Amino acid sequence: MAHRIGIIGGDGIGPEVIAEGLKVIEAAGVALDTVDYDLGGARYGRDGTVLPDEILDEWRQLDALYLGAVGTPEVPPGVIERGLLLKMRFSLDLYVNLRPFVLPAKGIDCCVVRENTEGTYAGEGGFLRQGTPYEIATQGSVNTRHGVERAVRFAFDLAMTRRRHLTLVHKTNVLTFSGDLWERTFNEVAEDYPGVETAYNHVDAACIYFVQSPQQYDVIVTDNLFGDILTDLGGAVSGGIGLASSANLNPDRTSPSMFEPVHGSAPDIAGKGIANPKAAILSGAMMLDFLGESDAAARVEAACADPSTDVEGTVAIGDAIAGLLA
Ligand code: IPM
Ligand code: MN
Repeated sequence: MAHRIGIIGGDGIGPEVIAEGLKVIEAAGVALDTVDYDLGGARYGRDGTVLPDEILDEWRQLDALYLGAVGTPEVPPGVIERGLLLKMRFSLDLYVNLRPFVLPAKGIDCCVVRENTEGTYAGEGGFLRQGTPYEIATQGSVNTRHGVERAVRFAFDLAMTRRRHLTLVHKTNVLTFSGDLWERTFNEVAEDYPGVETAYNHVDAACIYFVQSPQQYDVIVTDNLFGDILTDLGGAVSGGIGLASSANLNPDRTSPSMFEPVHGSAPDIAGKGIANPKAAILSGAMMLDFLGESDAAARVEAACADPSTDVEGTVAIGDAIAGLLA
């Protein structure tokens, strides 16, 4: 049976890279039954639609969602990010944002488990005295024991399947409330995983290690905002953001998971056919893996790593990868 996948190409280079991802999945021999959703900044500009609840409800029947990138310069910041991307993550309870970084030539093979539904992303806060010289803006970080623990447990389980090393990244020396909750939860859960070696890094120090010795990491677990920042850095030190893939997972499978490249819509290069589709293709491989198509996923990953696929042009890269799978 074909997997039922919702496709959100989105804006800018999104549709271009997703087209290559779908081409590659087909070449890998996996049948998808796709439904297209025209959403993102362009759609918002046309008729004000961001993400209606009816569409969200429709998505609950799907096996997965595959997204290119959303956002256009004309739309004010936050509208699409909060109204579409974060609404997806929160409503579908995609509580793990899994972001692998692999660069064999440099010995890098690590995976960031970013908590994906809480922290400063939760939307807590607001304005007081707005527009006055004494204006106040707060944006709190929401951390629940439940939310932290499920992300941490996922990370330990993942570490068990890898090199059995897990690093907590936080800022416990300053964020003494949320950091304490994270550290306590991490240490308590660690007792259930005696086979996993653990470490702790403050996030600022982790930035240095990411640049100087990313090889030291296996699995990292961290909160939403630290994870956002650290994974852009991870992309930059492991072959560029053009390779960085991600999976927004609902590990309990109570709703479809969503797969998207870490990069954005890159309006400056949209339509030029020069975007690297590998991040989208590798996100597609993560989707295949989650759907139980692990052989196809491994073959797509291997093809992406083949030097013969390091060619110029979005379509040419997709063709080269698909060609290796045929
Ligand atoms: C990402 C992006 C998003 C985030 C934005 C677009 C909401 O930067 O997926 O990393 O901050 O999570
Ligand atoms: Mn980001």
